[in-house]
Amino acid sequence: MSAHENTHPLYSPVELGELQLKNRLAMAPLTRIRAETDGTPNELMREYYSQRASFGMIITEGTWPIQEGRTWGRQPGIETDAHIAGWRKITDAVHERGGRIVMQVMHGGRISHPELTGTGRTVAPSAVTAPDPIRISTGKTDPVTPHALDAEEIPALIKQFVAGARNAMAAGMDGVQIHGANGYLVHEFLAPSTNLRTDSYGGSPENRARFAVEVVTAVAEAIGADNTGLRLSPEHNIQGAVEQDRDDVLATYGALAGGLAELGLAHVEIVHHEPQGELVQMLRDTFGAPVILNTGFSRLVEREDAQELVDNAGADAVSVGRLALANPDLVTRWREDTPLNEPDQNTFYVGEEKGYIDYPALQRN
Ligand SMILES: Cc1cc2nc3c(=O)[nH]c(=O)nc-3n(C[C@H](O)[C@H](O)[C@H](O)COP(=O)(O)O)c2cc1C
Repeated sequence: MSAHENTHPLYSPVELGELQLKNRLAMAPLTRIRAETDGTPNELMREYYSQRASFGMIITEGTWPIQEGRTWGRQPGIETDAHIAGWRKITDAVHERGGRIVMQVMHGGRISHPELTGTGRTVAPSAVTAPDPIRISTGKTDPVTPHALDAEEIPALIKQFVAGARNAMAAGMDGVQIHGANGYLVHEFLAPSTNLRTDSYGGSPENRARFAVEVVTAVAEAIGADNTGLRLSPEHNIQGAVEQDRDDVLATYGALAGGLAELGLAHVEIVHHEPQGELVQMLRDTFGAPVILNTGFSRLVEREDAQELVDNAGADAVSVGRLALANPDLVTRWREDTPLNEPDQNTFYVGEEKGYIDYPALQRN
């Protein structure tokens, strides 16, 4: 069989809920910090995303629904009419090329800085300061201690996620993914190291799962469960969201999955280094939704890993981060097993065209 006839299911169509994908490769959410300073998506971003329309699905970079949830300067937003209009150009371009695009809606919680939030504060479940320097427009600076959200503030915050999700759909997105991973706001509620609350949003595993359940349920009610996904990264242990007690993790994420199972979500994306292990497989069973898998930052998701995730870990689709940013035509390259461009770390979060829209596609004679 020639490489061109690769019949691995990774390269064949799949349905994630109502969404028909032409292959099982998703571009993972990747923050690139190239929007206008007010968060409006621009022409550069339109070019970047449309170059990658051959992925079965693009999951956008984390995008703020409200300025208080903004995490970086030049991170895009989905709060204003200008944001919606900017994203509309991107969704149109991706759709014209036969692609699918889902927006990751992200509130940064304490991984932000008052310089960016515009409200003089950052917010989190508890007043626990982040461990690492925070990236602001002029470089990196010390984190501030976040404001511990009052229980009375939480309904308004959930409405902000709903407004962002509605705006994303108004911009022509094929769905929304709530960012519940990597130590940002939703994850800060889940992890015992960042949630020291003693009210109904903290303490027991069920209580720590409550905010995530309420956000996703409210978004699903507003835009349809078929259009609603969720990203999780249990035990990823980054940005101070530490989850080292396996029993507690099973209880917390089990409560979360159980609380959302009846909705019938469009997808759940799980980032974990042991995708075939007990935890990921419990989540897959309990959610009962299509599952996208990714193995996390510690090593690149490569071609054989992706195929293995479909063959042996029950992945309906696989999300690829660094190799997707470096290879706009990764699907063809992997299908044909041809050489790859190397991702350039120096331009991940910095710059304009370079390392963004200038990675070459394969040349055909
Ligand atoms: C430059 C960069 C930006 C990222 N931004 C996001 C993001 O906005 N949201 C998110 O959930 N994960 C983000 N991630 C994590 C990726 O989605 C992915 O989980 C990680 O890169 C591991 O996959 P890979 O080995 O294929 O790169 C980012 C990763 C990188 C390298």
